[in-house]
Amino acid sequence: MTEQETDAPVAVKTTGLTKVYPRGNATFEAVSRLDLTLNGGDFVAVMGASGSGKSTALHLIAGLTRPTSGEVEIEGRKISKMSDRELTIFRRRRMGIVFQSYNLIPHLTAEENILFPLRADGRRIDASTTEKLRAFWRELDIEEQLGQYPDSLSGGQQQRVALARALCADPAVLLADEPTGNLDWTSSQNVCQTLAKLNREEGRAILLVTHEPAVAVWAKRVVVLRDGRIAGDFATRDFEDAAELAARYQEIARETSGGN
Ligand SMILES: Nc1ncnc2c1ncn2[C@@H]1O[C@H](COP(=O)(O)OP(=O)(O)OP(=O)(O)O)[C@@H](O)[C@H]1O
Ligand SMILES: [Mg+2]
Repeated sequence: MTEQETDAPVAVKTTGLTKVYPRGNATFEAVSRLDLTLNGGDFVAVMGASGSGKSTALHLIAGLTRPTSGEVEIEGRKISKMSDRELTIFRRRRMGIVFQSYNLIPHLTAEENILFPLRADGRRIDASTTEKLRAFWRELDIEEQLGQYPDSLSGGQQQRVALARALCADPAVLLADEPTGNLDWTSSQNVCQTLAKLNREEGRAILLVTHEPAVAVWAKRVVVLRDGRIAGDFATRDFEDAAELAARYQEIARETSGGN
């Protein structure tokens, strides 16, 4: 047995993860025997064409969808062994999730939304926590929106509030489905910078789904999905810029489409 590259504990490990959906009279594997490991300090961008299984994989990892077969472990704990209630509590404490649709609670203000996971968990919010959170909200440029309700926020602001909410409980892993999908270039790059900093300085594991090479280039590693399987898995450190990464991504897309 080999040791992990780093001494950081494994944040996420999927083994043979599979999700089968019915399609007409047949079945369809949205995610197929996915083996993916993220160490504590990993920052992985998941790319792939629309329908390649990115969101399904993320939902399976978050335990929001139960797999047809296979296993997900978060920090060494098998989530299939947890009851729905245990999983809800575990998710609130250890996972930060940003969905493709932001899922903010409409009758709560931005700030109440952000603090919801902490409050639901009965945690006290002391002065040093508040100070740390405020600095983070400033970085995300949502300070002025904290008193507003979700329906009065722009798409990009809702997205950043959802990100702040996902991170407020100090999760072991952040799972984010296109967290920059609705942002302009500058805001998107700012969010990437914030995520990279969280990863670098706090060792937080990040699994982020994106279509954009300019976002993926901030990650340490890119995993490309095709038809629910891993078609490519490469480090980003060798790339000069997003254009080089995009070229590598296209190459994988071409290689893997040849056989079908
Ligand atoms: N609940 C479901 N029932 C049946 N099929 C589903 C279900 N959810 C997803 N699928 C199918 O599984 C495949 C993968 O969907 P998924 O949402 O994971 O794709 P994606 O890679 O996130 O795409 P996008 O980039 O468009 O968000 C698609 O073909 C989709 O139609
Ligand atoms: Mg998706």
